[in-house]
Order: sequence, then C-alpha cells, then structure tokens
Amino acid sequence: MDIKKVVMVTGGSRGIGRAIALKMAAPDTAVIFTHVDPASKGAAETLALLKEKAGAAEAQCWDIEDSAAAQKNIEDVAARFGRLDVLVNNAGLNRDSLSIRMSDDDWHKVLEANLFGVFACSRAAAKIMMKQRHGRIINLSSIVAFSGNVGQANYSASKAGLLGLTRTMALELAGRGVTVNVVAPGFIDTDMTAKLDDKIRQAFIDRVPLGRFGTPEDVAESVAFLAGEGASYITGQTIHVNGGLYF
Ligand SMILES: NC(=O)c1ccc[n+]([C@@H]2O[C@H](COP(=O)([O-])OP(=O)(O)OC[C@H]3O[C@@H](n4cnc5c(N)ncnc54)[C@H](O)[C@@H]3O)[C@@H](O)[C@H]2O)c1
Repeated sequence: MDIKKVVMVTGGSRGIGRAIALKMAAPDTAVIFTHVDPASKGAAETLALLKEKAGAAEAQCWDIEDSAAAQKNIEDVAARFGRLDVLVNNAGLNRDSLSIRMSDDDWHKVLEANLFGVFACSRAAAKIMMKQRHGRIINLSSIVAFSGNVGQANYSASKAGLLGLTRTMALELAGRGVTVNVVAPGFIDTDMTAKLDDKIRQAFIDRVPLGRFGTPEDVAESVAFLAGEGASYITGQTIHVNGGLYF
C-alpha cells in the first residue's frame, strides 16, 4: 500500500514513545522513531512490533540535544518519504535532586534535552511542514509543569518551558496549516516512574482521583487524537492525561 502519512516520534524505544509509535502505525503510514540507547533491546522490540502494523517502520539512534543531527535526520526522512505529517516530541529525561543540591550539569542536561531538543526538532520539522502547508507537532510536557514537584526544579522548568514554546510556534505556524499542541501526562507507569520507591508510589496513587497510574496507551490515545483530522481546529492547547489530578 502507498504511504500516505509520515510520522516521527522521538524517544520511541520504550514507555510512552513506544505506545505512541504503535498507536500511530497503520498500513498507509510510515512510523520513524528515535532513541539514544545504542545497544537498545527496547528499540529492536519497538521496531519489530511496528513492522507488524505500519506500512514502513524505522529506528534511528541520535541525541535530540544535537541540533545538527535533528536537522539532518528530519530533513532526510522528509526527503526519502516525500513528506512529514506528524512530529511527536516525546523524548525526555530527568536528573532529580533538591534545588539547593542540584548541580549545574544536571540543570543544563535536562533543559538541553527536554527544551532545546524539542525546539531543535520542531524547528527542523516546521520548515518542512510550512512548505507542505500541513503538519502536526505534539509536545510531551508533564503535570509537574503546572504543579511543580519536589526534586524536579530542572525537569518542571523544562516542561513548563514547552508550554510557551508550543503557544509561540502555534501562532507562528497557524497560517500555514500546522498545529502545535501539548499532551501533559500525570503519573504514568514507565521506566521513568519505576525508580520510585513503593511508599512514594502509593502516596501518588492516593492523590489520583481515578486511583491508578496511567498507562502509556492512555497517553498515546490523546496524541493520536491531536494528530488526526478531528483535531484540525485545535492549536496551542494542552490535553491533561492525569486521572483527574487537580493542580
Ligand atoms: N512516565 C511518566 O510518568 C511521565 C509523566 C509526565 C511526562 N512524561 C514525559 O513523557 C515522555 C516519555 O516518558 P517515558 O516515561 O516514556 O520515558 P522513558 O525514560 O521510559 O523513555 C524515554 C525515551 O526517550 C529517549 N531519550 C531520552 N533522552 C534522549 C535524548 N537526549 N535524545 C533522544 N532520545 C532520548 C530514550 O531513548 C527513550 O526512548 C518524556 O518526555 C517524559 O518527560 C512522562
């Protein structure tokens, strides 16, 4: 079947990114995902699962902090497949500690990946999408962008920064048919939250009205909605996927 839609998902080797890549996969869709784990079993697994569902599937290993790599690889995908319809900026990381103990390196590392990386990928994609007068950019923020979180000054600042980036790019790209939106997950069961000890985990669950952590698939549903035709009049907005947590 001909490829009619081309989707890129950063950070697709596991967790939420994998669920998004799989949700977007269809016989007429090419799904390209990135990761930074060179010997990643996870990336191979995602790729195998994608190949069963997508018209074309590809895994790429490069760091979103490297803006030259972002530019080159995103342009290359658009050139080879003839278009780029959706970019999901999902890749992200955390380096937690209390503000007074946080090192410069931990601050810069998180801001570089979670905010500059998203900017670099979005800038590269926007140039392509503006020319084709169609495109969707979806950025993964977090509930902590709104609530703050003890030990996550760097992470919450990076995720809050994404809100301003999203609204600005939404304004800049609206005239060319490109939408830019945010999905802000609450506490989701992935490797990122697996590090939490049982007591803290239970304390988080006790605060969630729906009484459980979310699944990567819960998040992927909202991303797929924003990427679809039904969301063509939505831009600069945030969908909260957090089980009813109020902040
Ligand atoms: N898990 C949660 O509870 C939760 C909550 C709110 C927001 N989020 C956000 O959702 C996104 C996915 O989270 P997750 O829990 O699935 O994470 P994860 O740690 O399980 O997976 C992260 C993915 O990003 C990739 N990645 C990390 N740093 C990268 C870099 N510098 N360059 C390229 N790729 C990189 C990894 O290879 C991996 O594929 C992140 O942006 C995260 O901040 C997660």
